[in-house]
Amino acid sequence: DSNDQPYRTAYHFQPPKNWINDPNGPMRYGGLYHLFYQYNPKGAVWGNIVWGHSVSKDLVNWTTLDPAIFPSQPSDINGCWSGSTTLLPGNKPAILYTGIDSMKNEVQNLAKPKNLSDPFLREWDKFPQNPVMQPTSDNKIVPDSFRDPTTAWLGQDGHWRVLVGSRRRTRGMALLYRSKDFVNWVQAKHPFYSTKDSGMWECPDFFPVLKNGQLGVETSVNGDDVRHVLKASLKGHDDYIIGNYNTAKDVFVPDKGFDEFVLRFDYGKYYASKSFFDDGKKRRVLLGWVDESSSEADDIKKGWSGIIAIPRAIWLHRSGKQLVQWPVMEIEKLRANPVSLPPQVLKGGQLLQINGVTATQADVEISFEVSKLIEAEVLENWTDPQILCSQKGSSIKSELGPFGLLVFASEGLEEFTSVFFRIFKYQNKNLVLLCSDQSRSSLNKDNGLTTYGAFVDVEPLHEQLSLRTLTDHSVLESFGGEGRACITARVYPTLAINDKAQLYAFNNGTADVNITRLNVWSMKKAQIN
Ligand code: FRU
Repeated sequence: DSNDQPYRTAYHFQPPKNWINDPNGPMRYGGLYHLFYQYNPKGAVWGNIVWGHSVSKDLVNWTTLDPAIFPSQPSDINGCWSGSTTLLPGNKPAILYTGIDSMKNEVQNLAKPKNLSDPFLREWDKFPQNPVMQPTSDNKIVPDSFRDPTTAWLGQDGHWRVLVGSRRRTRGMALLYRSKDFVNWVQAKHPFYSTKDSGMWECPDFFPVLKNGQLGVETSVNGDDVRHVLKASLKGHDDYIIGNYNTAKDVFVPDKGFDEFVLRFDYGKYYASKSFFDDGKKRRVLLGWVDESSSEADDIKKGWSGIIAIPRAIWLHRSGKQLVQWPVMEIEKLRANPVSLPPQVLKGGQLLQINGVTATQADVEISFEVSKLIEAEVLENWTDPQILCSQKGSSIKSELGPFGLLVFASEGLEEFTSVFFRIFKYQNKNLVLLCSDQSRSSLNKDNGLTTYGAFVDVEPLHEQLSLRTLTDHSVLESFGGEGRACITARVYPTLAINDKAQLYAFNNGTADVNITRLNVWSMKKAQIN
């Protein structure tokens, strides 16, 4: 009941109870979406890891099945960690996943469905000769840093390739393996790609994106109309590099100035994500894990921990310089009771309440237009956006901003979470900052209250500043600039829960701004589990 469980999400995926972390092996098979995930069947903290398994027709409503993969062989007896699915010729799924073996080494294992005619693919057979990749005395692989195989792709020569996350000392990397038959894997001489001081790369992902348009392509596609994206999970974030994949040489060549990780899927809490090609809607879909910010004691009390972010379609922005992410359109089926406010001026210092919505379970779209005549505050030195947002929270005035939304706000504003823009002048150009400020989100200070920030690559004099925020009891996912900057955060209000929470638009800047569009929906509960 929502009064006992005010933080349980209504339309974000989570199993009935217990701990989850990484999404694993997402795929569409026989018209059905499969999601596996790191799952502890025994409690709300990390441990005893198996592959939980849920299926969906629409990426919104989910049915949970029994765990698909659990320790049973010497090669995975201490845990079944992250991995991916690949569709082999004849549309036959295969899973590669990391097992923690009896020596506590990380090794890669293979599993295939027991019965391809079971639409739910409930049972999986492990390859009896597992592991198929392992650290040995001559390959110099660090035995505790060799995990999370990607979806495999076919090279020009018709052989399979797969990446496995690893490191050498502090140098993070993806190791490349090749195979003719998906069973015998040979390590390539050189790492596929590596960066200095990035530490262990967890959950690498490598996929093609079209140069033009929003459609996705199957993982093995390459050619003139395609770029490639390499993502790794490191230091608590999912960072990516855009470049070209030279199939002949089997090397990834990052774009100029992008040979290190400077781009991030999500500037808030979002980790261990994995993408897959959805052959139904011809798009690439990204799934990511959103950890709790509450204390472990609170997680145990509520009996669960971890959710999956709303699946996002991802594609290359027309600038070619970044990806764009947008919640899959199916989520809009949950929209109910639309509330629209007419375009209006939001005066400096104004707080505008938005009535008639379930603020804890909402989809909010707002766009702003700023005056061309007003000069933004000058930023002298480039500063990390998260630090800027932490220093300049929602109550600190400038000319242009902060303006945006107050979500999960209690009646007397004892608690609120703010998502807002602030515009700076930096080197004679406008620089748009998007912040998600959780510092006032809860009177319970045992929760993480970290503020997040990102720059949004929009020119506010030519384009409107758009923000879409999805709220769901203890999570908010914000998409700035039509999905060019994403920030996900967890919050645990004590007052602003269920029907007690309020929603506002606000402008704490000195200059007025125009709201050009404001559409809000209450979100229905999805059928999950
Ligand atoms: C990332 C990760 C993976 C590992 C899994 C274990 O969150 O640490 O590297 O396979 O979780 O649950």
